[in-house]
Amino acid sequence: MAERKAGDRTDGRDPGFRERPGWGIGSTPGGEGPAAGSSSRHATNGTGQTDLLTIKSHIHRRLLERLNLSNLDRLDRDEVMETIRSLVRELLAAEAIPLNLEERDELIRQVLDEIFGLGPLQPLMDDPTIADVLVNTSQMIYVERNGRLERTDVRFHDDRHLLQVIDRIVSSVGRRIDDASPMVDARLPDGSRVNAIIPPLAIDGPHLSIRKFNDDALTAEDLVRTGSLSEPMLRLLEGVVRSRLNVLISGGTGAGKTTLLNALSAFIPPTERIVTVEDSAELRLRQPHVVRLETRPANVEGTGAIPQRLLVVNALRMRPDRIIVGEVRSAEAVDMLQAMNTGHDGSLTTLHANAPRDALNRLETMVAMAELNLPEQAVRAQIASAIDVIVQVSRLSDGSRRVMQIAEIVGMEGNVITMQDIFRFEQTGIDQDGHVLGRLHPTGIRPRCMERLETHGFKMSADAFADVPSRMATARLA
Ligand SMILES: Nc1ncnc2c1ncn2[C@@H]1O[C@H](COP(=O)(O)OP(=O)(O)O)[C@@H](O)[C@H]1O
Ligand SMILES: [Mg+2]
Repeated sequence: MAERKAGDRTDGRDPGFRERPGWGIGSTPGGEGPAAGSSSRHATNGTGQTDLLTIKSHIHRRLLERLNLSNLDRLDRDEVMETIRSLVRELLAAEAIPLNLEERDELIRQVLDEIFGLGPLQPLMDDPTIADVLVNTSQMIYVERNGRLERTDVRFHDDRHLLQVIDRIVSSVGRRIDDASPMVDARLPDGSRVNAIIPPLAIDGPHLSIRKFNDDALTAEDLVRTGSLSEPMLRLLEGVVRSRLNVLISGGTGAGKTTLLNALSAFIPPTERIVTVEDSAELRLRQPHVVRLETRPANVEGTGAIPQRLLVVNALRMRPDRIIVGEVRSAEAVDMLQAMNTGHDGSLTTLHANAPRDALNRLETMVAMAELNLPEQAVRAQIASAIDVIVQVSRLSDGSRRVMQIAEIVGMEGNVITMQDIFRFEQTGIDQDGHVLGRLHPTGIRPRCMERLETHGFKMSADAFADVPSRMATARLA
């Protein structure tokens, strides 16, 4: 490769760059040209992404020199945008940077995103088909769309640029990220959840994980329409919620636990007082009478944390008709189970586990975290009498979410909690496009809880449970 002159800012990877006369980034104060990311879209006849990125950071810096930022807060957004638009046009003209109309609008939008939004992430945040935005250092950004991860061609100039955006996010919620506290959980004003972690904890550079707030949460009917569960399954769960049975939704991360919990909560009558306890408020209940509680992490000095357990205890003092714990993770399981057993029935919660039996084991472990040294038998008996129904959800290989099992707890046999499946998903194969094939079917067992549902005026025909060959009917899961 040809030798480069000292001070030559371009590195030869960016042919489009040299073709722009009258514009040298080397003249920028500080000379901090962004590292040109290797773009596969080097333009021959238009402006490639890398070029636009480089021009943008240049114009952005120039703009900041010209703008009176303190003034911006006092103007309304439209005025600011207009000011910026005309300034960008001026700068482009003054420096003879040739851009077509489309490129110019794109540049203006990007500059506005840098100033007001989340920089390069803003278009991803604005795209309603994207559920998660996962930034693995400045050069590698993934999104989750329709349940699948895809890599995007969005990039930051460098890790410093990414850190600026992270900084803006966390400082807007009154937190900070630095050597002393290199990881932060925060919620954006729009409700999206954010986690940021930086070196030295994250080895390769700053990472940012955003779970976007989805404005139109999936309803129970949506879930039936997309095949996550069947109509009879939903009817059963509706009856279960209305009849104040205690429900545990179990599944892996991203399996759709919170979504299902949210959808099922719609069956709670609007006359009831609901208290929700969450680590990070995600639920969106439609009822008018809802008290929302959220845990608080420790402050920079490491004090002041309010864990879920304290909030559950407090919730019980607030005269709730129902308590919803977004996700049980730890010692709060004890207080929740106690509440379920002492008149606060109709509670709903989720838990991270791979099967209903696993969910019971996890609950037991969580109770142990409370360090009350309860005998195993007593803990199990308490779990068995508190939880009525376990709904197991999964994310399948094609990204779809399914209710895999609806299981009912029927009691204890000796030292073992006994359950029976009422509905199940049975996978039969995968089609050529990778879609999972299978069917949601009843196991042939009429749930014992139907008695309770009927006393609440909720009827289901026997057919709903009985249309399967008897070999499918599985009694107790050991
Ligand atoms: N049944 C479903 N169909 C389609 N998308 C779903 C379904 N359930 C959840 N999702 C999507 O999957 C993502 C994770 O769901 P969430 O309920 O937060 O999972 P969990 O609480 O298990 O971690 C969200 O973006 C949500 O919109
Ligand atoms: Mg969740």
